[in-house]
Amino acid sequence: MPDTRPAVLELDSVSRVFRPPGEPPVAVLRGVSLRVEAGETLAILGPSGSGKSTLLNLIAGLDRPDAGTIAVQGRDLTGLGDRDLARLRNRQIGFIFQLHHLLPQCTVLENILVPTLAEPDRAAAASQRRRAEGLLKRVGLADRAGAFPGTLSGGERQRVAVARALIHQPPLLLADEPTGALDAAAAGCLADLLMELNRETGTTLLVVTHSLDLARRLGRRMVLRDGRLEASAEGAP
Ligand SMILES: Nc1ncnc2c1ncn2[C@@H]1O[C@H](COP(=O)(O)OP(=O)(O)OP(=O)(O)O)[C@@H](O)[C@H]1O
Ligand SMILES: [Mg+2]
Repeated sequence: MPDTRPAVLELDSVSRVFRPPGEPPVAVLRGVSLRVEAGETLAILGPSGSGKSTLLNLIAGLDRPDAGTIAVQGRDLTGLGDRDLARLRNRQIGFIFQLHHLLPQCTVLENILVPTLAEPDRAAAASQRRRAEGLLKRVGLADRAGAFPGTLSGGERQRVAVARALIHQPPLLLADEPTGALDAAAAGCLADLLMELNRETGTTLLVVTHSLDLARRLGRRMVLRDGRLEASAEGAP
């Protein structure tokens, strides 16, 4: 029997045009289509300014397309109101940024629990805390739970950001240049961690990167060029 499960992510003819006041409109995405199955790992490459972050922000529901549809686990984001979109984003999508975006005044453990504050659930609080502690152990930072981000290295902060992105066990993990601010050794460790998590949990991984080292490790590579996404041989093993 054919597999009729919805893809984890499906984009159909997505366009995004920015209209800066007093300047000509900029058509950054011109009909991007993409299907990503559960458990896949995908790298998106492309020159600076080609629209990679724009695309990731649309998939994360942080921005809305001008045309086309974006479905996460069969649910069309473009039809959702702001509240439902925020809820789906919080539950279904983990996001790792180039710069970790940790809250400096909160401890490492508190930072990992930040996504759970959006919908406080007293009954679940203890188990969420245990899960955060487990994730911290998983990323190799169990002994830094009470530390503040300012006292961690760049690679350690990025590992905390990975744990935070996974607190709700999202089926889809998005990362925008996750190793962009790291040296080669720390970048290698982070790539190891992302690949291991994909294998262990089956989380689908979509990574925007300039790093061919990282792209080479992912199952599929695509390149964004002239507003369109195409299969890429760049970074192929
Ligand atoms: N809010 C905005 N208003 C106007 N133009 C924008 C806006 N956001 C992005 N752009 C423009 O859209 C284009 C794509 O930007 P984007 O940040 O997606 O590129 P990128 O591929 O992520 O680049 P990089 O590799 O440097 O991170 C750029 O020309 C940028 O100036
Ligand atoms: Mg970018």
